[in-house]
Amino acid sequence: ADKTIEFNASQENILINLDIILMRRAISNLILNALVHNDSNVKIVVHLEKKERTHITIKDNGKGIEKKEVDNIFDRYFRGTNTGTLHKGSGLGMAIAKDIIQKHDGEIVINSTVGKGTSINIVL
Ligand SMILES: Nc1ncnc2c1ncn2[C@@H]1O[C@H](COP(=O)(O)OP(=O)(O)OP(=O)(O)O)[C@@H](O)[C@H]1O
Ligand SMILES: [Mg+2]
Repeated sequence: ADKTIEFNASQENILINLDIILMRRAISNLILNALVHNDSNVKIVVHLEKKERTHITIKDNGKGIEKKEVDNIFDRYFRGTNTGTLHKGSGLGMAIAKDIIQKHDGEIVINSTVGKGTSINIVL
């Protein structure tokens, strides 16, 4: 398989106050989703940008999520129909990520198109 993850940032160091254990959990849940719910050729880009606030984007060119499922994606125990039997998840990853971002007074938004991929945008 040749899944790839590319990381890029607008600057070398971005200073931000956060709970590193929680934030690491949030971001890794999202990167893990892009890895496990997509085919073996998926390309994932993680982008970090400091503007007035800090923007974190986790974007993949994978299979995407149906519109009606996107509406429930942050609900606890919600699992999509796009995922194979290989990943036996609990449907908690996105709900946990959202909780953590909100605890940091941040925002998290998802955009997804079937056949094109998924983009998660976080603002802190
Ligand atoms: N990057 C993505 N590409 C395609 N589908 C995704 C992506 N991220 C999430 N999903 C869909 O959203 C659903 C919910 O994700 P969530 O992380 O909450 O649960 P899970 O991955 O199924 O289980 P868990 O995270 O608890 O192991 C997934 O079941 C999957 O259908
Ligand atoms: Mg998950």
